[in-house]
Parts: sequence; structure tokens; C-alpha cells
Amino acid sequence: GTIAVLNGPNLNLLGVRKPEVYGRDTLADVEALCAREAERFGLDVDCRQSNHEGVIIDAVHELRSSAVGFVVNAGAWTHYSIGLRDALETIEGPLIEVHISNVHAREEFRHHSYLSPLASGIIVGCGIQGYAFAVARIATLTAPAR
Ligand code: DQA
Repeated sequence: GTIAVLNGPNLNLLGVRKPEVYGRDTLADVEALCAREAERFGLDVDCRQSNHEGVIIDAVHELRSSAVGFVVNAGAWTHYSIGLRDALETIEGPLIEVHISNVHAREEFRHHSYLSPLASGIIVGCGIQGYAFAVARIATLTAPAR
């Protein structure tokens, strides 16, 4: 199975943008971490990042049935995109929402998420390790019963 790992706007600048908030690791490091974690469970990852909402909505449509689950850090779209929410409502597997920073310790406008009502789980403020937790969680939720 394949886990979709989607990153939204400005996350291509991970490691460069506000390292005091988001750390020094890069998006490539995040994607490698997800691949390594997925491998522990015999899973693959399909990692996408875009600064264009429609590109990520198209990726959701493309992967909605084939991905066993979705790990999504929608960046700022989290806080205002009903379009992305509507797309994620169509996915067949579980959604884990990830935020690198503790959004609840930051500005008020980061406290609300349009995606959280759809999420099986939400991981905030755990740095990039949150992505590994999210991958592990999807492995647990989608493991065949035994
Ligand atoms: C973020 C938090 C969002 O509020 C922000 O717009 C981001 C990154 C995080 O990972 O902490 O771009 O999703």
C-alpha cells in the first residue's frame, strides 16, 4: 500500500523559513523520514508538495482511492480552504493532519482548522517527527486484522 503525504504552501521552504518555529530540516528530509517510517510497515509513500491549491486538490483526486491513507500538512490552507476540505472528504482511507509547530500556541487565526473534523488524528507541535507518527498511525489503522 501507498500512503499519500501532502504538503501545502511554503513547506518547500522548510529549513529556511522561520527555523526557530519550523526547525532546520528540509522538505527532502521530511519526505525521506516518511519513506523510512513507511518501510518499517511494508508501505510506500507518494509525497507531493505544491504552493498551488488546485495542484494539491488534483493530487487528492488522483490518490483518493488508491492511497491507504493521507498525511496532510496543508500549511495556511488549513485555516481557510473549504475547497481542500471538500476534496479530502472524498478520500477512502484515514486522514492524519500534521502541523510541525504548535499552532495552538501561536496566533489566534492558526487555532481553527477546516480539516480537523475529517481527521482520524491530529499531530501538532512535534516538529517533523509528527510526520513519522502520522505514517505509523496510518499503518496501524490500515493493518489487516489478524
Ligand atoms: C503549519 C502551521 C500553519 O499555521 C502555517 O501556515 C504553516 C505550517 C505547521 O506545520 O506548523 O505553513 O501547518
